[in-house]
Amino acid sequence: MTKTHIVALGGSLLRPEEESGREKWFSDLLDLCAELQENGQHLGIVVGGGLPAREAIALANPFVVDVHALDEIGIAATRINATIIQQLLKVSDLDVATSIPHDCDRASGLLGEHHFVVMGGTTPGHTTDAVAVEFAIKSSAERCIIATNVSHVYDKDPRTNDDASPVSQLTLVQLGEICGLGKPRQAGASVVVDPVAVEWAIEANLAMCVLDGRAIDLLAAALYGREFSGTNITI
Ligand code: UTP
Repeated sequence: MTKTHIVALGGSLLRPEEESGREKWFSDLLDLCAELQENGQHLGIVVGGGLPAREAIALANPFVVDVHALDEIGIAATRINATIIQQLLKVSDLDVATSIPHDCDRASGLLGEHHFVVMGGTTPGHTTDAVAVEFAIKSSAERCIIATNVSHVYDKDPRTNDDASPVSQLTLVQLGEICGLGKPRQAGASVVVDPVAVEWAIEANLAMCVLDGRAIDLLAAALYGREFSGTNITI
């Protein structure tokens, strides 16, 4: 039976510190995708902007004050990263949609026709985490997987709290409290999961999980419904 999965791939995953690590990550991801295709699975990948997005927003920032205009710059960076992943799948002869969709209706339609659809951001006002949640809802995926560069969601921000602890199990409402649901945001601001994504998941009763996307075996475990080290977020 075919199954549809949606993953948000944090932009930082495309640029590990070590170049050798970078090659291994891409090649492990491609091996996983080849296996998924062989098993009849469909995967929507929403790629974040990472360093290029932050750099581009910082370049424009002194002159461009409108947050939506800065968001448009961030979106352009996510689409560059999405194109990198899409082209890698294509040259590996995997069945990936040839266009990078601009919205989730188009993306979910394409995912019915192809094993893989890769996209970046859509409209200002949120990040690619929220796009992944919308894509998961529109393509009836069981949950939205957030693959990022931390092992878990922490009970408070570990960058500013030495006593922060990793959490394995949360409800969507608890995740919203940790991520600052309802608080004002800034273009390029970084929280473990975008509060808009959490809000949309709550509205749609969509489960989520957060895992360390630097280890492709964790992503594989989550995709195949096996136990994995990370944070499971229930409705
Ligand atoms: P990201 O999704 O990359 O945000 O979008 P991020 O929190 O920096 O995530 P990582 O670090 O890649 O995991 C980058 C910026 O692009 C704009 C926002 O300004 C966001 O902060 N953006 C992205 C949008 O406005 N809309 C989108 O749909 C996507």
